[in-house]
Amino acid sequence: MELLQHDILIIGGGGAGLRAAIAIGEENPDLSVGVVSKIYPMRSHTVSAEGGAAAVIKPNDSLEDHCYDTISGADWMADQDAVEAFVNEAPAEMIQLEHWGCPWSREPDGSVAVRPFGGMKIERTWFAADKTGFHMLHTLFQTALKYDNIVRYDEWFAVRLLLHDGRCQGVAALELRTGQIRAIAGKATIMCTGGSGRVFPFTTNAAVKTGDGMALAYRAGVPMKDMEFVQYHPTGLPGTGILITEASRGEGGIIVNKDGYRYLQDYDLGQALDVNDPQHPQKRTMELGPRDRLSQAFVQERKKGRTIEGEYGDYVHLDVRHMGEKLINKKIPFVRELCKNYVGIDPVHELIPVRPVVHYMMGGIHTDIEAATPLPGLFAAGECACVSINGANRLGSNSLTELLVFGTRAARSAVKFGAQAGEVARAELIAQAEQEQQRIRERFFRPQTGTESIAGLRVELNQTMESGAGIYRTEASLQESCEKIRELKERFGQVELADHSLTFNTELTTALELEYLLDVAEALAHSALARTESRGSHQRTDHPKRDDENFLKHSLAYRTDGDPRIEYLDVVITRWPPGERVYGSK
Ligand code: FUM
Repeated sequence: MELLQHDILIIGGGGAGLRAAIAIGEENPDLSVGVVSKIYPMRSHTVSAEGGAAAVIKPNDSLEDHCYDTISGADWMADQDAVEAFVNEAPAEMIQLEHWGCPWSREPDGSVAVRPFGGMKIERTWFAADKTGFHMLHTLFQTALKYDNIVRYDEWFAVRLLLHDGRCQGVAALELRTGQIRAIAGKATIMCTGGSGRVFPFTTNAAVKTGDGMALAYRAGVPMKDMEFVQYHPTGLPGTGILITEASRGEGGIIVNKDGYRYLQDYDLGQALDVNDPQHPQKRTMELGPRDRLSQAFVQERKKGRTIEGEYGDYVHLDVRHMGEKLINKKIPFVRELCKNYVGIDPVHELIPVRPVVHYMMGGIHTDIEAATPLPGLFAAGECACVSINGANRLGSNSLTELLVFGTRAARSAVKFGAQAGEVARAELIAQAEQEQQRIRERFFRPQTGTESIAGLRVELNQTMESGAGIYRTEASLQESCEKIRELKERFGQVELADHSLTFNTELTTALELEYLLDVAEALAHSALARTESRGSHQRTDHPKRDDENFLKHSLAYRTDGDPRIEYLDVVITRWPPGERVYGSK
């Protein structure tokens, strides 16, 4: 087997990966960069982001306020030094994107337009209509093409990190076209593989979001941080889970129950609500409360029997009709397109059915503020990483900006590391990749008497995650999920593939993805079981209060031969002592 070699290796060709690749080109165009991606970069999940990307730009806004909103939105689980770095560097990243050609929507005077988003006190979300991710990814992809030093390995599927001497030195990847495993070396490697929403049955996440990078790092001994924090977005289309962007509420859409009542006014969305006060700010801004509280309110409303029963579970309605056709076409044209194509309704005239849907993992690969993991030579950025700026609940529109800021940071750290690192252990890396080839062939291609199907196991995994580790959790429900995951891991050994061909064997990649999902689910369920408090998106009905004394700490899940080992790490608090979560007023 030959060894392909680069100075820096990036795994994942979405927003974070491409931003990192460009940053390396900017830093030193002589460095060779390999970008390994299981799909073509323009198909990565960044493309589907809709509503926008947050950064301070207007004179009435401040860096201080963006920090505060992010930290209180995170229920004080975010590291405050990381949040400050993020907020400070965000505006320059966004302007840089503009210079590379990103068509940000404008105000009539030509300045960049911003819109309100959930949990933000003020309008600070930049957008490109409601196709922000598409335009950002396009901009990054086109910019990356300028750099001759960036070599893309499109449709190469990462199967194992290559380690030597306690250092990450590359990756073994399956070239999907040929079915061959290849060894690719890098003096430093950056993981940018996105999230893992596919552990749940109902998600906005593309089918490719199977936690590959998280699982590869976990297997290599890197802890998964804060995996118990899973974001449900309040407005997904029943059936498909397709996102109806928060921008539709930012632009004035309202949520109503089966009686046409704006039920959110009855719930505590973090604004010290006095339900008898008709002037209370929440009466106006309730649809822009934080996502965790809105999703929890839906469950309460369902318990009261005030949601609508549907083929794909209960739902409520999002009403944007009062915006009128002109504004809908200008500000949220994609919402209209999606509603017409996927539920056969026109939101100009009809109500949109919506329900909470798994959208984002706050947790991920443990990194420090420079995007470095505890494994020398391995860095991570984007949704697969946990820096952490999102804590227990991410504010909508922070993640697109996060992948820019931390994609750049990861690139700089990797370049610095690579400059001081010794040569890679060529023979050892090739040997490890060969072993992986052998393992995969023997495990999946030899005739067996397997009795389990990939789809069957995945459905059971999805079901146990939803019932045990969904919006509300208890010790019993989580115990059940942990046991089920253990059983599924065992049963995975009985999976047999019908397709033993080498070319684009999607049955094989689906099996490998299921193995990744099982690892991610294990870390998630055990971290949730161990956190006996309620905070942000992690709601334990048996421990309903936030417990700063014992749990103002990040969880770190380490893989072992049995159940994961859970350790804790203090949250970094600098200028904002833990307090009540308050939105809607300064
Ligand atoms: O609703 C949205 O457009 C989602 C944005 C986000 O998750 O950042």
